[in-house]
Amino acid sequence: MVQKQNEMLNGFWRIKWWRYRYAILAGILLNIFLINHFFLDQSISDLNPFPATQYPPPTVPRPKDADAPPAPSGVIVTPPKSSATYNLNDYNFNGQYVGWPLERLCGETKWQEGLVFVCDNNSGGIGNIRNFILTCIRYAIEAGATGITMPQIQRRSETDLANIFTTGFKPLNYFFDEEHFRSSIETYCPQMKIFNTKTDIPNAGKIQEITEFYPKDLNVDTDGCDGRGVNRHLDQFRQKFDQWIRDNKRPSSWEEPTTLRFRWATFFEWPIIRDGPEFAATFGDLLRINKDIEKIAVKTILELQKFAGVQPDGTLITAPYLGVHLRTESDALNFWPDFDTQSDGYIREADTRNMKHAYLASGNATDGHRFGAKAFDKLGLKVTQKMDLLKGEDLKALTDLSWDQQALVDYLVLSKSTHFTGCSFSSFAMNIGIKRHLMTGGINSRPWRSPGDVFSTLVGRFDSWYGDWMFMYECMWP
Ligand SMILES: *[C@@H]1O[C@H](CO)[C@@H](O)[C@H](O)[C@H]1NC(C)=O
Ligand SMILES: *[C@@H]1O[C@H](CO)[C@@H](O)[C@H](O)[C@H]1NC(C)=O
Repeated sequence: MVQKQNEMLNGFWRIKWWRYRYAILAGILLNIFLINHFFLDQSISDLNPFPATQYPPPTVPRPKDADAPPAPSGVIVTPPKSSATYNLNDYNFNGQYVGWPLERLCGETKWQEGLVFVCDNNSGGIGNIRNFILTCIRYAIEAGATGITMPQIQRRSETDLANIFTTGFKPLNYFFDEEHFRSSIETYCPQMKIFNTKTDIPNAGKIQEITEFYPKDLNVDTDGCDGRGVNRHLDQFRQKFDQWIRDNKRPSSWEEPTTLRFRWATFFEWPIIRDGPEFAATFGDLLRINKDIEKIAVKTILELQKFAGVQPDGTLITAPYLGVHLRTESDALNFWPDFDTQSDGYIREADTRNMKHAYLASGNATDGHRFGAKAFDKLGLKVTQKMDLLKGEDLKALTDLSWDQQALVDYLVLSKSTHFTGCSFSSFAMNIGIKRHLMTGGINSRPWRSPGDVFSTLVGRFDSWYGDWMFMYECMWP
C-alpha cells in the first residue's frame, strides 16, 4: 500500500508536475506570504498559527462543578542542564541542592490567600516521616496554600516502639536540617510562607480550622470502579478542592485565615512521577538530615574504614563495605520477610559482590548478633555496627540520641555503602534504595524498580500493603 502510494507520487512528479506549474508556484507564494504575515504581525515568542481568537474553543458542556483549571501564573522557568551530584565516594550526604523544579511548580500555581496547611502529625521512622511531611507540602502547593506551619515530629516511645503517638512533639530539627528546609522554601517557593506555629498566622484569633481532611474524600464518585476508584484522585484535585472550600463556606483571606490539617495517616498516596522526573528527584531534598547527626555518621564511616583495613584520609571513602538493614524489630509486621529470609538474602548479596566487610543497622540487638555470627560462619563476612565502632565522646554523642535519631546515623552510613541491601517492606530501606537510585540518572532518573539497581538490592517480596491503599514505591520521594 505504502509502496503503491510512493509509486503514484513519484509518477506524479515525473510526468505531471509541469502541467501544474502555475498552481504550485501560486501555492509557494501564498505560503511565503502567510509565513511572513505571522512574523510581521506577531512577536516570534507567541508564534501560533491558530490563535484562540481566530478559532474559539469548542463548546463542549462542562460539568457544573468543574471550574477551569487554575491558569499558570508567574515565570516559566527553563530547566538548566544540571543534575544532582550525590555520590558514594565522599562524606557529603546530600550533593547539590537543585531548586528550580520547585520554583517552576510554585510559579505555575494559583495561590489562595490565607490558606495555611498544618503539617504537624508526622510519626514513625525516617522513611515514614519524610513522606508525611513531603506529602503534606506537595498537597499544600497543589491547593495553593500561601502558608504552612513548620512541620513537627512525633516522638516515639522508647519502651514500646509501636507507640508513635503519646510521647509528644519535637521540632523539625529533631531529624532534619531546619535551616536548609526554611531557606529552600523561602528561596524557591516564597509564595508559601512558613509559620512557626499557628499563633504566628496573621489574625490568628479569627482562624477557621479544618481538621481530619482527607484528599481522597473529594473523589467519592468512583465512576463505576469499586472503592479503590478514589485512588485516581489527583488530576482534578485542585478543582474539587476549590469547590469543596466554596461549598463549605471557607473562602480564606489573611483577614480571616483558614487552616487545614490532614486526617492521620495521609501519606504514600502522591505518585511522584506525576510531577516529572526533575521534581520527583529533587523535592525530597528539602529534608536533609540534621547536621549534628551527620557529624556522628562521618565519625562512624571513618571508623568503618579502619575496620575494613584502610587508614581514612577524611576526604574519600575508599574501602568497600556492604550496607545491611535487618528489619526484625518487635514492631515488624508478621507478614514481612523474617530473619531467615532477610539474612539469607543479605549474605547472598555479600557473596555475589565479593564483599568482605559489612555495616549492619538493626534496632534488634539479639538478631544483630545472630546475623553477624551467621554471616561470618557462612562467608567469613566481617560485620560491625555503630555501637561497636564509636568510642568515648563519639559514642556518648550517639547514645544521647533517641532510638529514631540513632537510626538516622545508620540511614546515612548505609546510604554511602558500596552496595546496600535491606528489607523490601521497610520504608527506611526503600528510602535509602530510592535515594541511591538517583545516581543512575541524576535529576532525570527513572523510577526505582524492584528488587533493585546496581547500587541497592531489597530482599523479600512486597506483595500487598493493607488492602491497596498505600503505594509506597510509587509515592516515595528520594
Ligand atoms: C495524630 O494522629 C493520631 C492518630 O490518628 C491521633 O491519635 C492523634 O490525636 C493525632 N495528634 C494530634 C495532635 O492531632
Ligand atoms: C528481635 O527479633 C525477634 C524475631 O527475629 C523478635 O522475636 C524479638 O522480639 C525482637 N526483639 C526486639 C528487641 O525487637
